[in-house]
Amino acid sequence: MANQTSKSESGGQPTPESIAHADIVPKVWLSCGLAALAGLLFGMDIGVISGAIGFIVKEFHVSSFVEGWIVSSMMVGATIGALGAGWVSKTLGRKKALLLSSLLFLIGALVAVIAHSVTVLVVGRIVLGLAVGVASFTAPLYLSEVTPERIRGTTISFYQLMVTVGILAAFISDAAFSYIESWRWMFGVLVIPAALLFFGALAVPNSPRWLAAKDRFDEARDVLSKLRSTSGEVDYEMGEIREALELEGEAKGFQMFRHNPNFRRSVFLGVALQLVQQFTGMNVIMYYAPKIFQLSGFDGTSASLWATVVTGLTNVLATFIAIVFIDRLGRKPILYAGFFIMAVSMAVLSFILHIGADSTVLQYTAMGAVLVFVVGFAMSAGPLIWTLCAEIQPIQGRDFGIGASTGANWIGNYCVGQFFPVMLAGIGGPWTFGILALVNALFIVFVLKFVPETKGISLEKIEKNLLSGKPLKQIGV
Ligand code: BGC
Repeated sequence: MANQTSKSESGGQPTPESIAHADIVPKVWLSCGLAALAGLLFGMDIGVISGAIGFIVKEFHVSSFVEGWIVSSMMVGATIGALGAGWVSKTLGRKKALLLSSLLFLIGALVAVIAHSVTVLVVGRIVLGLAVGVASFTAPLYLSEVTPERIRGTTISFYQLMVTVGILAAFISDAAFSYIESWRWMFGVLVIPAALLFFGALAVPNSPRWLAAKDRFDEARDVLSKLRSTSGEVDYEMGEIREALELEGEAKGFQMFRHNPNFRRSVFLGVALQLVQQFTGMNVIMYYAPKIFQLSGFDGTSASLWATVVTGLTNVLATFIAIVFIDRLGRKPILYAGFFIMAVSMAVLSFILHIGADSTVLQYTAMGAVLVFVVGFAMSAGPLIWTLCAEIQPIQGRDFGIGASTGANWIGNYCVGQFFPVMLAGIGGPWTFGILALVNALFIVFVLKFVPETKGISLEKIEKNLLSGKPLKQIGV
């Protein structure tokens, strides 16, 4: 509490304006760094399989059904992990949930490394999935609860940046280990960030909002005073948290979902947002980029390998657009632009596949369309959906609400991974990508009708609007 006394002179009467200009203390950045590490692991887990699967198939001589199961077992684990993470992070707290996730990462990676049968490998993938499910739930939630509102969007976008860096790192590490044909090493490298996450989680503070929801107000205040630069900010936020907790009454989590129709609206919005994110088709590109490049006329393993790395790099770089603009322009303008870009690029790809990519110019245009699509996703739906999902849930139902939306993310992810090849084989490339173009265009209408603008507004204000029955698209006003 010593911290707090020394801050009282700079306190005075807190106003939203004075708070908006207060400094960001280093401890906030430490917490962001830790959550970012969870994002890195999330991305590495998604990216590692694309390069490893070929060697796994070669070693175990598995059928294409089993091959699909080795890939998708991780998503099954992640769905279970995300749905269970709400309970874990509510009961044990965000910090312990991150610790648990790092341990699961370590165990999953080690089991995969030593797997000498497909069954053991699948067990390792499921444990890795559980880890990524818990991490993908907890990290954005933790970030939304420890960062001041004026940098909240930026920090959650930074988390998404680390997801993309993780995917790229896995693509590159896969390529490097492919020279010695070792898929075990590809999984082995996961141990390093997992260990860092474990030690990092030991060092960061608990979430003040979780402590307050557990009636531990003194500790909440103590932690908040280490995360804010003036006592004015601490007083203001503690006041908002108390008010939010009182407004919500006794019902929490699932009980709140059953009894509170306004909370049900935010849960459905979160689930819909994550399904929208997955049905943009981004993971079609992440998992099947080499296949798409081959369809567009590029042949040979090295050509598609390089194209895949370029895709991963584009994904990383375009995420910076969101980081720079999310808290300046707001969420909705960026989402409109992103869905528009994705719709147009998919329509172009569909058209090229329809007329047949038989010239070099058309092949490169097709590749350009894929890269432009990745830019559209990375600057918008990638970071923004995670941000919005962490922002729209009221405090007492936050774990339940974000658990549901993160679970929806992984179910959508599973469906896309599983059904894209089936669609491609059934109705062909032009129709498959044509449908994706249409779906992305429809998402513009979805944003217009249902998505709120949450830029620069406190979580407590958003929930006050939600619980008072304002239409969803106005809860950020
Ligand atoms: C999505 C993942 C996707 C990744 C690509 C994330 O926001 O949830 O499914 O693979 O972005 O960068």
